[in-house]
Amino acid sequence: MMKIIKAKDYKDMSRKAANILSAQVILKPDSVLGLATGSTPIGMYKQLIDWYRKGDIDFSKVSTFNLDEYVGLDDSHPQSYRKFMQDNFFNDVNINSDNIYIPNGIANNYDCECRNYENRIALAGGIDLQVLGIGHNGHIGFNEPKEHFERDTHIVCLKYETRKANSRFFGKLDDVPRHAISMGMGIIMKAKRIILLASGERKAEILHKSMYGKIDPYVPASILQLHPDITVVADENALQSDGI
Ligand code: GLP
Repeated sequence: MMKIIKAKDYKDMSRKAANILSAQVILKPDSVLGLATGSTPIGMYKQLIDWYRKGDIDFSKVSTFNLDEYVGLDDSHPQSYRKFMQDNFFNDVNINSDNIYIPNGIANNYDCECRNYENRIALAGGIDLQVLGIGHNGHIGFNEPKEHFERDTHIVCLKYETRKANSRFFGKLDDVPRHAISMGMGIIMKAKRIILLASGERKAEILHKSMYGKIDPYVPASILQLHPDITVVADENALQSDGI
C-alpha cells in the first residue's frame, strides 16, 4: 500500500521530505541514503542544509548513493549529476566525501562500473532510504519505459522526451548526452524505505498512472506499487487527479 502525504505546495513538500530524511538520519546515524537529482528534490536539500547549519542534523556517518549519471560527463562538467550534488547538497553538509558514491560517467569499462556500483551498495548493507523523483514518462532514476523492467544497474539509451525535458539545463538538445548509467529497479526495490517526491500539475497524470495504473514497464514508476514501504510526498497540484 502506498502511503500518500499531501503537501500544500513545493515548499511544504520539500519540508515534509526533509523531515522524513532527517528522522531517518537521527534514528540511524549511519544510514545509507539513495539520492536523486532533478529540480524536484532541490528544496529538500536546501531545507536539510538549513537544519544542518542550525545543528539539528549530523551527516558524518551517512553514506550516499546517487541514482544515476550522464555518460560522457566528468565531475567538473556543469551538468554532471556529481556537480549538481556538490553544488546543491554535498558542499554544504558534513557527509564524508569517502562515503559519497555516484556512478562514474567517464568509466573505462561501463559494465565493470555498473557491477562495482551494485557491489558497493551491497557492501554498505543496502539502501535504508531511497529518495526518488519522477520523469514525465514515468522514469525513476534513468530507468526509461521499455518492454521489461531493468533489474540491474545499466547503461540507458535516453528517450527523446527525457533529453528534451532535460535540455533546459543544457544549452541545446544536441548537448544533452544520449546515454546514462542508472541504478536498476532491483536495487531501488530492495531499499528498505522509499519516498517519491512530485510537485506541480505537470506531474499529476503520470503520478496518478504510476500509483493506481497497471504495473507496466512502460510506466517504470508503477513497479513501486509492489514496494512494502513507499511514501509519496506530493503537493496538491501533483495530486489533483488523485481525488484525495
Ligand atoms: C531526471 C533524473 C530523475 C528525475 C527526473 C525528473 O531525468 N534522472 O532522477 O526524477 O529528471 O526531474 P525533475 O525533478 O526536474 O522534474
